[in-house]
Amino acid sequence: MTEATQRKRIEPVQAVRHSFTLTDNETGESWELPTIHGSIGPKVIDIRKLYGQSGVFTYDPGFTSTASCSSEITYIDGDKGILLHRGYPIDQLAEKTDFMDVCYLLLHGELPSPEEKSDFDTNISQHTMLHEQLVRFYSGFVRSAHPMAIMVGVVGALSAFYHDSTNIKDPMQRMVAAHRLIAKMPTIGAYAFKYSLGQPFLYPENQLSYSENLLRLMFAVPTEDYEINPIVARALDRILILHADHEQNASTSTVRLAGSSQANPFACVAAGIASLWGPAHGGANEAVLNMLDEIGTRDRISKYLGKAQDPEDNFRLMGFGHRVYKNHDPRAKVMRVTCHEVLNELGVQDPTLELAMELERIALEDDYFVEKKLYPNVDFYSGIILRALGFPTNMFTVLFSIGRTVGWIAHWKEMLESSESKIGRPRQLYVGNEPRDFTAVAQREHTEKKSSWSWLWGGNRNSD
Ligand code: SDX
Repeated sequence: MTEATQRKRIEPVQAVRHSFTLTDNETGESWELPTIHGSIGPKVIDIRKLYGQSGVFTYDPGFTSTASCSSEITYIDGDKGILLHRGYPIDQLAEKTDFMDVCYLLLHGELPSPEEKSDFDTNISQHTMLHEQLVRFYSGFVRSAHPMAIMVGVVGALSAFYHDSTNIKDPMQRMVAAHRLIAKMPTIGAYAFKYSLGQPFLYPENQLSYSENLLRLMFAVPTEDYEINPIVARALDRILILHADHEQNASTSTVRLAGSSQANPFACVAAGIASLWGPAHGGANEAVLNMLDEIGTRDRISKYLGKAQDPEDNFRLMGFGHRVYKNHDPRAKVMRVTCHEVLNELGVQDPTLELAMELERIALEDDYFVEKKLYPNVDFYSGIILRALGFPTNMFTVLFSIGRTVGWIAHWKEMLESSESKIGRPRQLYVGNEPRDFTAVAQREHTEKKSSWSWLWGGNRNSD
């Protein structure tokens, strides 16, 4: 079967039926732009022919009003606080199934049958080890390296080892790469933590579940038996489910854009990890804990809420707000319940959680946050639970990346199988210099307009 016949056309639910008329009031010209309906959610205006017909681009920095693709994987309604994976509500998946089921669902579109589940779980378990020479990469990092720096480097280096799953045109190799990435991320992440401690790396144990294996790789030592707490394992599995996928977020869009150039899957996921690291995105869970530690006590909450509202202050209340949700993040609701369950069941008295609850209560009553529809997002509670489960703060985003890998690779696979996909190439609104002739260096006068690099040589050259 040739690649061409394998590229699946993701048909819009309804054929093109209506259109928008766009009129340029400057020239009086008009253009008919077809609209396309999906299965649920906003319809789209198909602007693929707009530039060819009109010579104009659309302008949407951050793509907040732009559908970059059609997808069947995840649906979000930010106003209603709805999140569906292949049609299933996130709270049902988090309560009723496990992370491996959700991985299968995101990759294949349906929840697995008992046989499919058994085969998938076994396949993932059998791909959890790392190539022994890849393990040597860790010794090249300083012990104090941020584990996300190690994740970016080691995941990208998988391309150097697993050549039999880098041909993106071969569906079998695509699936093997997907399984390898899902399976190896816990090992890679746990080794980054062990390396920071100077402790030996353990080998995965195939009889353990995905979350149990991650806990053991993270916290066990060779000198004694490690007893897995089922409450902790269940909570971790639920956290991974809640982080599995989230439509076209920054890191997933990064993976899709990198994949559109036909880069190999390991390089694409490494790019996604780099994007997720940012505190405005996946790095927020670590930033939430750092912020709560900085606030310290309840009496300082109002000071920080004031900073968050001060237009002159670039402080943001970490864990609040969302590019899409203008209602409660449904994941945060599940995470909040899990947070209380875990702390109660483990008997953990965490003053940080109490501070977080007070911060949440005050923020949700504050006019600024109410008016701007800023609610706690998934990151607000995840850091508190992860700390209660024993994870160090700088590992929080690593855990986010472990959960999100299946989402990244599902979107990467969907993109490659779609007949609509092509290399991503956004355009721009150019506001730079108009054409000008070259000036030889002897004729160039020093202008008072300081280049953005003048701080490098101490500001004004005349002061030398
Ligand atoms: C994730 O995209 C995804 O799906 C991401 C994610 C996923 O699963 O992949 O859900 C994971 O990244 C969750 C978000 C984690 N980030 C944080 O918690 C960092 C803090 N949040 C902010 O940085 C912010 O809310 C963003 C970046 C998440 C969204 O920024 P936007 O798009 O600017 O938010 P907005 O347009 O709704 O903001 C409206 C106003 C703005 O003020 P004005 O320009 O109108 O004056 O609210 C302000 C914002 O400046 N605002 C905040 C704020 N978030 C937005 N003010 C104070 N504190 C905040 N946290």
